[in-house]
Amino acid sequence: MEAKKLKTNQKTLNGKVVVPGDKSISHRAVMFGSIASGVTTIEHFLPGEDCLSTISCFKNLGVDIERDGTKVTVYGNGLSGLKEPNAVLDVGNSGTTIRLLMGILSGQPFHSVLIGDDSIAKRPMTRVTLPLAQMGARISGRNKAEFTPLSLSGGDLKAIEYKLPVASAQVKSAILLAGLQADGVTTVIEPEKTRDHTERMIQMFGGEVKTDGNRVSVCGGQQLAGTHVRVPGDISSAAFFLVAGAIVPNGSIELTNVGLNPTRTGIIDVLKQMGANMVIEEEQTEATEPIGTIKIQSSTLKGTVISGDLIPRLIDEIPVIALLATQAEGETVIKDAAELKVKETNRIDTVVNELRKLGANIEATPDGMVIHGNNSTLKGGTVSSHGDHRIGMMLAVAALISDGDVYLENSDAVAVSYPNFFDDLHSLF
Ligand code: S3P
Repeated sequence: MEAKKLKTNQKTLNGKVVVPGDKSISHRAVMFGSIASGVTTIEHFLPGEDCLSTISCFKNLGVDIERDGTKVTVYGNGLSGLKEPNAVLDVGNSGTTIRLLMGILSGQPFHSVLIGDDSIAKRPMTRVTLPLAQMGARISGRNKAEFTPLSLSGGDLKAIEYKLPVASAQVKSAILLAGLQADGVTTVIEPEKTRDHTERMIQMFGGEVKTDGNRVSVCGGQQLAGTHVRVPGDISSAAFFLVAGAIVPNGSIELTNVGLNPTRTGIIDVLKQMGANMVIEEEQTEATEPIGTIKIQSSTLKGTVISGDLIPRLIDEIPVIALLATQAEGETVIKDAAELKVKETNRIDTVVNELRKLGANIEATPDGMVIHGNNSTLKGGTVSSHGDHRIGMMLAVAALISDGDVYLENSDAVAVSYPNFFDDLHSLF
């Protein structure tokens, strides 16, 4: 595919964006709807490629699912309603789909084969296959079940107490989903708190979960009931406009319906720390996930340090935060973020290499990066998403402050989490 010519030299950005549905919550709404009894209706579902992979996997498992744009109806028949698939389950690019799905399949008395794209084939899976095998699932795959293709036979599970070696909401969720089908109480202990959408959703579907600090427990054998889920806008998608608003001069951007779950709002803390000109209005709703409106304008920014328990609260925003830091005064250090190496791409390398092509002063470190901000425009060049949606969107925002032509290779990757990204960005010109 031909490289996409990006908009550069943008003098101002103005307008309003209704942020598309949250990816993590859209996946979970389909999954919980599929294992609950009765009908689940989902509003503001994200029709990105990743979430469509989740729908297609559950259809292959015998669940009746209808979609009309961002409205989805799932006709769940309970955990015992899933059927042995007669084709391989293809998760595409989606780590959330494969890891959470393995948790569900571990308790199912049948065999499944799971595959994904070239990026999924490089992503570590023993972080889930190991605890799930301890619970009783039989999983085999390339390199001792580290990589896809994976083959899984589920069945009777026993509860475990498991200390996560890495802070990962996907691993926590996989174990909790298996725990819902196990005999006894399953407990996950997190090194740092990660996004808690699974815990909230268990409660939305009428189940019980106990959280005590970094310990999360579920009891096996619970019956979940279908419900209505209104998916908040994805703060990880809003992040591209937050940064665009902060670095493109003279503009004013309003983002509505943004999910403000505290386990996801690390980028807001960082923007505040760096001196962003931002107003947040949280809405009072009965919904289990908080939402609100964010307004942002450009301002003078200063470098900062991003580390420790802040990392899981902004893990997916680090590529665009790196861009933000190029426009700050002074140095920004991102550390404790080695997990970036096992995302859709190695995001330490791709961020550093691609931003350097546009003239940024940025270095990789073993667990993050150091950005020497100088508050100056970037230059033109040909860059690539490397098939990673968030790298593609970050580069489109970088181009706005470039004074030469910028071409983006593999721009289609943005459809994984934000199919209308380029149209929404264009609406602000
Ligand atoms: C996700 C958890 C995070 C995040 C991913 C979505 C989820 O991954 O990076 O985009 O929906 O649970 P890890 O669990 O690997 O940290």
